[in-house]
Amino acid sequence: MKILAIDTSCDETAVAVVENTTILSNVIWSQIKLHKQYGGVMPSVAKLAHEEHISEVVDLAMTNARCKMSNIDAIAVTQGSGLAIALEVGIKKAKELTANINKPLIAVNHIEGHVLSAWTQNVKFPAMAIVVSGKHTDVIAVEQIGQYQILAETQDDALGEALDKAARMLGLGYPGGAILEKMAKEGSPDHFPLPLPMRGREDEHSFSYSGLKAAMWRLVEQEKPLDKQKIYDLAASFQKMAFEHLIRVCKHTLLASPALPKDLLVGGGVIANLELRKRVRSLCKELNMVPHFPTNKKLCGDNAAMIGIAAYFKAQRGEFADPNNLDRLPRWRIDER
Ligand code: KG4
Ligand code: ZN
Repeated sequence: MKILAIDTSCDETAVAVVENTTILSNVIWSQIKLHKQYGGVMPSVAKLAHEEHISEVVDLAMTNARCKMSNIDAIAVTQGSGLAIALEVGIKKAKELTANINKPLIAVNHIEGHVLSAWTQNVKFPAMAIVVSGKHTDVIAVEQIGQYQILAETQDDALGEALDKAARMLGLGYPGGAILEKMAKEGSPDHFPLPLPMRGREDEHSFSYSGLKAAMWRLVEQEKPLDKQKIYDLAASFQKMAFEHLIRVCKHTLLASPALPKDLLVGGGVIANLELRKRVRSLCKELNMVPHFPTNKKLCGDNAAMIGIAAYFKAQRGEFADPNNLDRLPRWRIDER
């Protein structure tokens, strides 16, 4: 089964072609350079850029997959969560293509895409999943593909968002997660004291980055003017505490599960971070679990291949959408139908 999948949930215009769970093409037109000047994603700019590029990105994904529209069996699209006016562009395009080729439409949850971006044949269910992106910090129980329960989520910022904000305080630009990682490599994580969020309250099974962010802001103000070494050390200290909090809450949440599954799927933009992967691997060792990461960097951040793979499993279950009634769901949770 060949599926053409579209994701316009945020600031990437993404289109992919998958054949069952094999990725034939995965094209991402990144809008980062358009949003840089605002220090974050500007929804109206994202919408316009999606509208401007969606057709050429569809064409490129088809060309790269060496595929004709007549060979496509279904169209998949991210229905949510994401920015409402950005999601709308992908949904409109998907409806148009569905009508043109007279094939079914599949509506996919963006977070389900991130969960399945790390899926391989080796994963046994029930499994657990962690999604760490610019919008989400979730621990998810995966009973089987399509059946999810959120076990822990953030009360305020997502991990990626917190890293981006810390990077901004250090004048490192947007989005800052990857730049912060580079700076942190050069610094000492113990040079500056920063508080560990929710210390001793890990059993509440929720994440919080607002306190750490506020402490970072005060520290940065106090240390100004910043020289290179200070930036390295501040980045390392912030990243260490942000990851330490993530790992601690994940550990408590996973251990609270009555029967801990063997497999842990890990997805989302932040898992491109090598230091975090190391921490997740050592957590898995401690818990006797097996971690599964996306096999390439492109599959960590927003992309449409993950939407195509989730759509393939939905198609297997006969879960198709009605193009006449499909509307964006900006706040669609993975545990809601
Ligand atoms: O999954 P994603 O592309 O978009 C959302 O669905 O939010 O994640 C984007 C986030 C941003 O916060 C970005 O700074 C972060 O992923 N990120 C990283 C790295 N690469 C991207 N964070 C830490 N280390 C990285 N190498
Ligand atoms: Zn995402």
